[in-house]
Amino acid sequence: MNSNCVIELNGIDKKYRQKKGFNKVLKNVNLKINKGEWIAVVGASGAGKSTLLNILGLLENPCRGTYLLDGREVPKKSKYRALLRANKFGFIVQEYALIEKYTVKENLMLPFEYNTVQKNTKLEKEALIKATLSLLNVDNKLDEYAYNLSGGQRQRVAIARALINNPDIILADEPTGALDKDTANLLIEELKKLKSFGKTILMVTHDNSLTQYADRVIEIKEGILLDKRDSIE
Ligand SMILES: Nc1ncnc2c1ncn2[C@@H]1O[C@H](COP(=O)(O)OP(=O)(O)O)[C@@H](O)[C@H]1O
Ligand SMILES: [Mg+2]
Repeated sequence: MNSNCVIELNGIDKKYRQKKGFNKVLKNVNLKINKGEWIAVVGASGAGKSTLLNILGLLENPCRGTYLLDGREVPKKSKYRALLRANKFGFIVQEYALIEKYTVKENLMLPFEYNTVQKNTKLEKEALIKATLSLLNVDNKLDEYAYNLSGGQRQRVAIARALINNPDIILADEPTGALDKDTANLLIEELKKLKSFGKTILMVTHDNSLTQYADRVIEIKEGILLDKRDSIE
C-alpha cells in the first residue's frame, strides 16, 4: 500500500432515515488522499459535502464501507473515535462554536484536555496559545470573553482553536462563508502555511476563487463523488 496515503475510503454509503424510506446521501464513495494534499470539495447545497467531512472527522459513521486512516481501519468504539478525533483533526466550521461564557484563553485550553497524545506543560500551552493567537492577529483578546468578540475576531479565535493541537488533518467546512475579506485572506494564508508544513487539508467551499489553492477538486453530485483531478491543470 502507498505509505503516503493518509485517508482511504472504500465503498462508503451513508443514508438517513426519512418519513418514507431513506435519503441516500453518499453512494459508494471511494477516495484516497495523500499526506500533504489540499483537497477542495464542491457540490450543490444538500449534496452531502458536510456529511463526507463529518465521516472523515469521525463525527459520523458510514452505513457501509471501510475507512482507513494512516493505513488502519478507524475504531468503531466511540471512546476511541473521540480520542483519534481530538489527536488527529482540526475542524474549522462556519458557526464558530466557541463557548460564550469562557474567555479566549479558556476556549483555547479545551483542545489540550481532549488531546492525550501531546503532553504539554501549562507554560507550554500558554505559549502555544499566545503564538497561535498572534499569528491570527488576535493576541490582544486573550482574556476577553467570547461573547464580547466581533464576528471576525470569533472566527480568528475559532481558527486558532482548530490549529492549536497541531493536527495532521484540517477539515474546513465552508470556512470563509461568514468572513470579512481580511479574515478570509488571513485564513487562506494560514492554510497555505499549514500545507507547506505537510498538513493535509480538506475544504468544502462554494467559493470558486478558493478552489485555485487546492491540489485537487472533488465534486459530490447526487451522492456520487466525482474526482476532477484530471480536469484541472
Ligand atoms: N443528521 C442528519 N439527519 C438526517 N438527514 C441529514 C442529516 N445530516 C444531513 N442530512 C441530509 O443529508 C443531505 C446532505 O446534507 P449535507 O451533507 O449537510 O449537504 P451539504 O453540506 O452538501 O450541503 C441533505 O439532504 C440533508 O438534509
Ligand atoms: Mg454543508
